[in-house]
Amino acid sequence: MACTSRRRNMSFVTYSPFFTLVLAPFLLFLLCLPAPASAAGSAVLGIDIGTEYLKAALVKPGIPLEIVLTKDSKRKESAAVAFKPSRENGAPFPERFYGGDALALAARFPDDVYANLKVLLGISFGDGNEAVQTYSDRYPALQLEQAPGIRDTVGFRSKKIGDGEGTYTFLVEEILSMQLKQLRANAEALAGNGATIQDAVITYPAYYTAEEKRSVKLAAELAGLNVEAMISDGLAVGLNYATSRTFPSVSDGQKPEYHLVYDMGAGSTTGTVLRFQSRNVKDVGRFNKTVQEIHVLGAGWDRTLGGDALNELIVNDMVNKLLENKKLSEGTTASKIKSHGKTMAKLWKDSERIRQILSANTETGSTFEGLYEEDVVFKYKITRSEFETLAKEHASRVGKPIEDALAAANIKLSDLDSVILHGGAIRTPFVQKELEKECGGSSLLRTSVNADEAAVFGAAFKGAGLSPSFRVKDIRAVDAATYAVKVKWDSDGKERQQKLFTPTSHIGVEKHLTVKNLDDFEFSFYQQIPFGDDENDAPVLGVATQNLTESVKKLSDEYSCAPANITTTFSVRLNPASGLPEITSGSVSCEVDASKKGSVVDDVKGFFGLGKKDEQKPLQEEGESVESVTLQEEPSTPTEASSSTTQTSDASSAQETKPAELKVKIETIPINLKSTLLGRPTLSSEELTRIRDHLAAFDASDRSRALREEALNELEAFIYKGRDLVDDEEFVKTLKGDQLSLLKERVEAASEWLYGDGADASTKEFKEKLGSLNEIVNPALRRKKENSERETKAKILKELLSGSKSVVDLVELQIKSDEDAFSSLVAESSTSTVESSETSSTTATASATDGGIDLDDDPYSSSTTITATSANAVPTAPTYSMYTPQDLASLKTVLESVNEWFDTQSALQEKLTESDDPALTVADMDSRLQEVERKLQHIYGKMGAKKSGSDSSGSKKKKGDGKKKNGGKSKSKTEKTSSKAKPTAKDEL
Ligand SMILES: *[C@@H]1O[C@H](CO)[C@@H](O)[C@H](O)[C@H]1NC(C)=O
Ligand SMILES: *[C@@H]1O[C@H](CO)[C@@H](O)[C@H](O)[C@H]1NC(C)=O
Repeated sequence: MACTSRRRNMSFVTYSPFFTLVLAPFLLFLLCLPAPASAAGSAVLGIDIGTEYLKAALVKPGIPLEIVLTKDSKRKESAAVAFKPSRENGAPFPERFYGGDALALAARFPDDVYANLKVLLGISFGDGNEAVQTYSDRYPALQLEQAPGIRDTVGFRSKKIGDGEGTYTFLVEEILSMQLKQLRANAEALAGNGATIQDAVITYPAYYTAEEKRSVKLAAELAGLNVEAMISDGLAVGLNYATSRTFPSVSDGQKPEYHLVYDMGAGSTTGTVLRFQSRNVKDVGRFNKTVQEIHVLGAGWDRTLGGDALNELIVNDMVNKLLENKKLSEGTTASKIKSHGKTMAKLWKDSERIRQILSANTETGSTFEGLYEEDVVFKYKITRSEFETLAKEHASRVGKPIEDALAAANIKLSDLDSVILHGGAIRTPFVQKELEKECGGSSLLRTSVNADEAAVFGAAFKGAGLSPSFRVKDIRAVDAATYAVKVKWDSDGKERQQKLFTPTSHIGVEKHLTVKNLDDFEFSFYQQIPFGDDENDAPVLGVATQNLTESVKKLSDEYSCAPANITTTFSVRLNPASGLPEITSGSVSCEVDASKKGSVVDDVKGFFGLGKKDEQKPLQEEGESVESVTLQEEPSTPTEASSSTTQTSDASSAQETKPAELKVKIETIPINLKSTLLGRPTLSSEELTRIRDHLAAFDASDRSRALREEALNELEAFIYKGRDLVDDEEFVKTLKGDQLSLLKERVEAASEWLYGDGADASTKEFKEKLGSLNEIVNPALRRKKENSERETKAKILKELLSGSKSVVDLVELQIKSDEDAFSSLVAESSTSTVESSETSSTTATASATDGGIDLDDDPYSSSTTITATSANAVPTAPTYSMYTPQDLASLKTVLESVNEWFDTQSALQEKLTESDDPALTVADMDSRLQEVERKLQHIYGKMGAKKSGSDSSGSKKKKGDGKKKNGGKSKSKTEKTSSKAKPTAKDEL
């Protein structure tokens, strides 16, 4: 872009042909290479869904990890959306606002500003969930209710939307998806070129259950995002931490590093113990490579400790102080104030600000006018120590997530290398104090990590690692299960259960589950969620075998396997992307005598078995399957079930090799399995379609509102401009006859309409009105522009033409001298004419010595060459040292035709007035200018692109193609100094 504008400037200043020659823009052409087209469709978005803020970072070929800025260029967006009544009559949807704009509306429209939704994701509305209660207390004006359908999730009823009675109930995910959609649009704007971004990696707090993760996924999908993976907040921070570091190599027997990520955000606090190490693993071929590994070893959390809980302390204190206000009507109670939406919105907003200020100052306050009641003026003051007194109970909770995380990871505080702090609320002074107390001083605390953005960067980094379009540092980041997973099934008419994964089991690692069942059956996976002192078994996944009975029958029929020898095995793992249990395969097998049935079929099946083992090898490389957990039978499980052994992949491969030595084969038949998600029912496809359509209609309404606003603004601006124009002398001159009065009339009419009937008009009407004004104004403006530029441009063209005459002379001179030399050569044939030839060439080349200095070859060598040839043989035609008669003719043709055109058009233009469309247009002159410049450049090119010793390499490259160019070159130099050089033009280069 810079290049183009510079080019344009140049054509204005290069009115001297010698300028054109000297500043030949080769260099500019070299710099103006088009930007390489970027690969499409490979962008990944890292998203950090926080309680208070949404953040996103984009990776895209050409954009290495960049924060997605909001519309107001902020690095994070307040997690809020608001619906504001539309100004249009009968609009189907209200206006939507996002982020800070949405929050700013909370005091006016508290019943339609939706913020901090994260706490409501995936929880039940019905069973008196504490989070639902806390949320409605905080936002008394919002109408929370059960979401439509049978899923028993949280919904919001909005009175501004919907037909008929004017209400519509949103799913909490539906509202979050609007915010994610906005985030996605911002990212697409950053990616540019109309890019579509779909793939995302999203963070989650370690304590999220399957239901909560699925809720996030639903919101993302409604926003058109494809969730490539989810990553826990703590691991994401660790991943970002690891991108710029290397860790001790366990392959060389070094001890790993242990760090705890302490993350206190607005909604909750988590502590995550991470182990960092590097390891040498096999790479392609015979090469080894070093990979960095991060494993989540354990997590602890407090679901409600965070900035919001601290704000609430201030809000409650404000309400108590407000109650002392004498202006309040009698009978006002705390609960009355707390159920007043506008009042609470104002108090909450200020509580956040007050808390931030108290982090740096010892006291602060706030004044509210007309709070709760019109004539109430409320002055609130609080000191840091008062705040800390209020927060005593909260302070005592600060250390717990660290203790819990260490306990889960089974390591001691002294094993930690550091505690990495993350999240907005860690800046609170008493939190820091408590952390120091917990960690025995500040030496362990590491505040150097980007406390706001480490998680979102980590998520984007993970996204880049998952995409084949990027080559990133090899870091294997492995989350843990957080919740134990058990499996339940019926066998011999009894319910059996077995714990399969512990809270610290690593995701992605395959486990084998062996059962006695030989008939088709069903089994289910449960997350064990601590609930008070108890545990809830939350169903996650159900699996039904489809052809177990059939496959067992086949084993006994075809291989005479006795039922007692047949085992049923399943491979289970926590899905690497979601961390939730999934079943990857199942099979039945039995040992058969290989000598009996050594058919080809068996061999093929043996390969099958081997093939499956191969798939597991990458896992072993991670060094994790070795560390597999020994599964414990639940006490309630009957004893027979203990025969249902579990094997690590190592054990099973060992089992496979042994029988082979005994000439015994293991016959394996895969079984077909059907998995169904358990827990909260998923949305039916009709429901999904209904919601998607509704969201799309809302989007379309926003878009058409934006277009209408644009058209309205444009018309309004044009009316102002029109008023200025009718007073502009130069403009009025370009109008004919009654056009001026017509324009005045139309401008006034449009103005009256716009501020009267037109206020509710449609986009189309605005455009029509604008068109009727444009009809007169645009052609007149074009004429005005022509009128103002014509003279200058004509002058430039004239000067270029007259300047070109000296170039013609120069070329003629050189040609003549070459021809003269030839004639005299012919005349004096065999006598020594060397000297005269040399003389003439010197005449033509003026100061050849000077100009030739930085040529690669000796400047005299060219004349020597001429001498040599002429001495040896008499040529039959003139040798032209630079220009040929054809060059001259073609230059003259162009100059003549342009001259002629210019004279004709100038004569026509003379007869026209300023209100006529011009005969001599600026655009036509520009194209003629370019034509002449091109010709001159050709002449210049022959001269050699070398203009002076200070030239840059770009044009030096061009110079090697001629040795005989000194003549013209030095001429141009001489002429240049005498021409009216504009120094500014040269500076621009
Ligand atoms: C790769 O690592 C293995 C085991 O550490 C080692 O034996 C081997 O020599 C290494 N190979 C190369 C090419 O460094
Ligand atoms: C059961 O289903 C699996 C997977 O579809 C198939 O490979 C296997 O052959 C089936 N078993 C029988 C006995 O057909």
